[in-house]
Amino acid sequence: MRSMIERLARVRRAWPLLLPALMLLAGCNELPGARTDPANTFAYGGTMARELGDLYMMTFWWATAVFVVTMVAFFLALWRFRERPDNPIPRQVHGNTTFEVLWTIAPTLVLVIVGIPTIQKLFELDEPPPGRPPLEVEVIGHQWWWEFRYPAELGGFVTASDLHVPVGRPVRLTLSSEDVIHSFWPPRLAGKHDVFPVPQTTPWRKNHMWFDVAEPGIYYGQCAEFCGIEHAQMRFFVVAQPEAEFLAWAQRQRQPSPNATDQAGQAAFLSGGCVACHVVTTSTPDPSQKLIGPNLAHVGSRLSLAGGTLENNDENLARWLRDPQEVKPGVKMVLPRPLSEEEIQTLVRYLRSLQ
Ligand code: CUA
Repeated sequence: MRSMIERLARVRRAWPLLLPALMLLAGCNELPGARTDPANTFAYGGTMARELGDLYMMTFWWATAVFVVTMVAFFLALWRFRERPDNPIPRQVHGNTTFEVLWTIAPTLVLVIVGIPTIQKLFELDEPPPGRPPLEVEVIGHQWWWEFRYPAELGGFVTASDLHVPVGRPVRLTLSSEDVIHSFWPPRLAGKHDVFPVPQTTPWRKNHMWFDVAEPGIYYGQCAEFCGIEHAQMRFFVVAQPEAEFLAWAQRQRQPSPNATDQAGQAAFLSGGCVACHVVTTSTPDPSQKLIGPNLAHVGSRLSLAGGTLENNDENLARWLRDPQEVKPGVKMVLPRPLSEEEIQTLVRYLRSLQ
């Protein structure tokens, strides 16, 4: 009994160490996936990410140098002026012009060294590099999903949640919000950019950003500005494809899905009330036309449902249609009445067939 109490006491003394150790471990990546970790900003996916990463590392090493120099000076002073029997109180000094000038100039120099390339990069990275014109996409933030409007030259279609882009070509995004402030953040591709509501009369106030993607793949994205209860479930995916594949995808987007005219599906879409907020269209919306819910023209081919909350499959779509509030509490999708299981199955078949 006694030894057990002693052991417990020892464990209790270890607590202050245990917590930081756990926190450190929580930051660890599994080694094999470390480079592909979806939110790892150091797993550079393109030019913008690498440039920002280089800038970060430059600042990091300067900060490390400052830390080391400061700590060495600090511990030297501790050691040099420690209490000793022969000299209990070190000689007291007040003011030292040389030191004061030095510790004013040194930090100023470090700040200038870090500041100049930072400001240079700020201007350099503002617009995509000259050369091939970038792909222009209009990004509209909604509580809690992302809308993407493609340019007229590609057909001017509208999609949601999946941002398809061609590999190697810069993508320039114009950002605005339909409601509150959001932030567009594809961690492996670019930094966060605020997405705020902009009145029709001042379109030039819209924020913009660009990035390019070096390798085909799916890149995770996340809203990075607290925007309400489902902020965490406001995700998107950048789907980077080789140019030909991307163009084929765009081609499909501007044509209605062959199943869009399915009678039973359309009837359920109307009677279920979906039509109050959703469109199924491949046409170009007027810039002033606001969507309430995502365009469902090709919803069956998207990676996720409910703005990145659920994987896109039959079971999840049925679950979503049964009770959106259960899946994403607070979501703006409200059913006018509960749908019958038969209606749900019809809608699942219909929506999933819109490829
Ligand atoms: Cu949108 Cu957070």
